[in-house]
Amino acid sequence: MKKSGDLFYPSTEVKKRAWLKSRAIYKQAEANPQKMWATLALELDWIKKWRKVYVGTPPHFSWFAGAKSNITINCLDRHLKLRKNKVALIWEPENPAEPKRILTYYDLYRDVSRLAGALKKMGVKKGDRVGIYLPMIPEVVVSMLACARIGAVHSVVFSAFSSNALQVRLQDSQAKLLITADGYYRRGKVIELKKGADDGLDGTAVKKVIVVKRAGNQVPWNEGRDFWYHDVTKDEADSIGAQPMDSEDPLFILYTSGSTGKPKGCVHVCGGYMVQAYATDKWIFDINDEDIFWSTADIGWVTGHTYSCYGPLLNGATFLIFEGLPDWPNTDRWAQVIDKYGVTTFYTAPTVIRMFMKTGTDSLKPYRLNTLQVIASVGEPISEKAWLWYFNEIGKGKCPLLDTWWQTETGGIIVTSLAGLGPFKPAFTGLPFPGVRVRIVDDDGKECKAGKEGNLVLLPPFTPSLLRGIYNNEKKYLDTYWSAYNNKMYFSGDLGYKDKNGLIRVVGRADDQIKVAGHRLTTGEMESALAKNLSVAECAIVGVADDIKGEVPVVFVVSKSDIPADQLKADVIRIIREEIGPIASPKEVFIVKDLPKTRSGKIMRRLLRKTLSKEEMGDLSTLANPESVQQIQDTVQGSGPEQKS
Ligand code: WT7
Repeated sequence: MKKSGDLFYPSTEVKKRAWLKSRAIYKQAEANPQKMWATLALELDWIKKWRKVYVGTPPHFSWFAGAKSNITINCLDRHLKLRKNKVALIWEPENPAEPKRILTYYDLYRDVSRLAGALKKMGVKKGDRVGIYLPMIPEVVVSMLACARIGAVHSVVFSAFSSNALQVRLQDSQAKLLITADGYYRRGKVIELKKGADDGLDGTAVKKVIVVKRAGNQVPWNEGRDFWYHDVTKDEADSIGAQPMDSEDPLFILYTSGSTGKPKGCVHVCGGYMVQAYATDKWIFDINDEDIFWSTADIGWVTGHTYSCYGPLLNGATFLIFEGLPDWPNTDRWAQVIDKYGVTTFYTAPTVIRMFMKTGTDSLKPYRLNTLQVIASVGEPISEKAWLWYFNEIGKGKCPLLDTWWQTETGGIIVTSLAGLGPFKPAFTGLPFPGVRVRIVDDDGKECKAGKEGNLVLLPPFTPSLLRGIYNNEKKYLDTYWSAYNNKMYFSGDLGYKDKNGLIRVVGRADDQIKVAGHRLTTGEMESALAKNLSVAECAIVGVADDIKGEVPVVFVVSKSDIPADQLKADVIRIIREEIGPIASPKEVFIVKDLPKTRSGKIMRRLLRKTLSKEEMGDLSTLANPESVQQIQDTVQGSGPEQKS
């Protein structure tokens, strides 16, 4: 049994299958990161080689400048020689009684070609944006690759996001075509995705919709605009050429939370992203030909893009995608899936780990879980307790446990110890990936000493898959990531510290973003949804700790009408579910008289958080309305006026 504070290294068995056998890589890469990335890039096929590995003046820079490639050549064509009939993708449906689907590399190549051909016929050209609003079914992978094949820019929207959230994203990206499905299963019920998609199309540039038949439910149909996936693909050729892409051409846009209302479209490019997805999957997880890789994140998040699609395919690996939830029909579902397919590499989030800890080890007793070789976590800080449970109970004390830190913006993993090299330490994320200069700095950009908390930043040359911009919003790009350190460092928005061995622990965000069951949400986006739809004078949303979900939103509203409290609360919850999605459902809604503000009018969300955690308030004298704090404390503790109505 490993304990708190222990440091450990991989076993001889794990080391044997490792791609990297020596720590020397860290020194070499630090001395010349460009050289390391170029060596890795040369393992892939390029249509034309680069002139320079890295050029630019931050905040604008290029990787593999002048090169031409197409990521699908490396995901598909390259494997047709060696592994044409190897399983690329295994699909496990939500209902365990329904048959699985298996796609070989050749199946995937053919399906991607057919859809790519159909997209072209429907007028999609290089650079056009295509929205993808699909559940976890093989067609989501096919759709992403089909876009990439012809140089269209995909923008996947998480299928559990509401139609409003879809609409905002489609409007921002100006997508001209949307790929969606009739429906999918959630806890045994059909979710009407096509209906939701239709509602999200108002006021967008989408002219055509391709619909995958998944659940067989009746769908509304708009003749001339809507097309069945099986109809448009059936007469297309089995093989279609790949569009040559410049390294810096966009590959995809993926929206993530900003600190204010509107989500930000992170732009990722073809060359650098490809190299990083390939390299990180290979070196971090030690992905090998015989592995079965399962990353449980939905493809609507960046983890899904990089480790449930591009990373494994670039490595010619076999990976699994799962339509369902880890706890349906029972809390042993994920263990069932691991044993059913002999999963070797399991990548999940702390929220899932906490849920299973709570259920207890007993429900896992019937399972062997003995095929696992590497286990990993992503999305939020993993507590020491959860780390040790995951390591001892799931990894049986023999699997390296990788805590991986990264962001939608970084496109690939940035901080983690490598499976084959270690060291691993409970609750620590580990070392920066070789060649990535990660530092913990104070507000002046000075490096913090071991143990001291500071801002997590990246120094030039950053990393090949770092975002190249916010779609159509240069100002936001500059303000969010570059202004803090005068364009010299990329600021992640996260806080962390290093231990004396240089292992990093990320403790949380420096801004108002929250993580609900691993999903990154901005309280700002929720606040604007309420402000737009409700008769409230003001509102503020903060995250509070939750045993399972990590954090959950709590809403404070200042009502400006005499609408009854119960109704107002119900409206708040309904609006957030409609505008953002059920994952953002608030845990509580408090109706208050006033919100604490600075003299310049900024709402002090930090104080609201403290009222919930019952912490000391500290000095309130700089507030414009210090009395508001006591009133809120009373409300939160149940003695407030709103409780009486
Ligand atoms: C934010 C990024 C990147 C894949 C999924 C999330 C937090 C992520 C960790 C970790 C502590 C973590 C950070 C980061 N985060 N991984 N291992 N330990 N915090 O992508 O939705 O863009 O969220 O998630 O706060 O900035 P994302």
